[in-house]
Amino acid sequence: MNFFMPELICVGCGPGDPELLTVKAVKSIKNADVIMCPTSKEGKPSMALSVVSSILAEANKQEIVNLVFPMTKDKEILENTWKKNARILADSVISGKKVVYLTVGDPYLYSTWIYLHREITKEHPEIKITVIPGIVSMFTFASKVGISLAEGAEKMAVIPSCYDLSRVKEIAKNCDTMVFLKDGHYFDQVIKLLREAGFSENSVFAIGQDLGTDQEIVRKMTLGEVTSETITTKYFSIMVVKRV
Ligand SMILES: C[S@@+](CC[C@H](N)C(=O)[O-])C[C@H]1O[C@@H](n2cnc3c(N)ncnc32)[C@H](O)[C@@H]1O
Repeated sequence: MNFFMPELICVGCGPGDPELLTVKAVKSIKNADVIMCPTSKEGKPSMALSVVSSILAEANKQEIVNLVFPMTKDKEILENTWKKNARILADSVISGKKVVYLTVGDPYLYSTWIYLHREITKEHPEIKITVIPGIVSMFTFASKVGISLAEGAEKMAVIPSCYDLSRVKEIAKNCDTMVFLKDGHYFDQVIKLLREAGFSENSVFAIGQDLGTDQEIVRKMTLGEVTSETITTKYFSIMVVKRV
C-alpha cells in the first residue's frame, strides 16, 4: 500500500550569501515543486528568495509564491496574516506538492516561520514538518568583524530594537555583549541606553547592513568613535556592542 504523507519543509537561507546555504537547504530547494517565501509588500522582492535565486535558475521548474507579511504591530492584522498564509501553505502541501518555505537566517529566530509553524501544527497535525536550520545573521556578522560574542563566563543579550526598549538598560547592566537586530532606525536610541548602563567609550562597537549582498556595509570601532554617520538605518542591520 502507498501512503501519502504530506510534508512541509522550512529552509533557513542564512544571511544573504548563497554560499552560506547548507547542503541540505540546496537539496530541498532543488527538489521542491513549489517555493513559498515571505515579503513585506505585494510586488516587493523577497530577501529569502533572492538568496536562493541562482539555485532556482539551475532547477528551472518551480512555482514561486510570495506570501505577504505586512510590517505592522497590529495584533489582529498579524493573526489574520499568519492564518491566511498558513492556509495557502497547507493547501499546497495537501494537494500533493513538495513545498519549501524559505526564511532568512535561521527559521527559529524572529522569523515568520514561527507563526506559520504554530498555525499549521494546530490546524493540520497530519502535515509532517521538517525544519532545516540556517546560519544566523548575527553569527555571520561576528565572523566578518572578528568579535567573539561570548567567551568564558560572559553573558550576551539579543534585543529586537523596534519594540519597547524600556528594559534594555537593565539588561545591558547585566550583560557583556549586546546584540541588536531588527531595524537600524532605532540604533541611535539604544546606544544612548548602553552608555547609561555603563558601557565605556572603549567598548567594542560593530555595525553591519545588508550582509552578504552587494550593498553590504560593515564597520568596527569603539563606542567613543560612533557618530550619526557611522550608524546604519536600514531594516537589515545588526549592531554589536561589547564591554572591554
Ligand atoms: C525578522 S529578523 C530575521 C532574523 C533571522 N531569522 C536570523 O536568523 O538572522 C530580521 C533581522 O535580522 C537581521 N538580519 C537578517 N539578515 C540580515 C542581513 N543579511 N544583513 C543584516 N542584518 C540581517 C536584521 O537585524 C533584521 O532586521
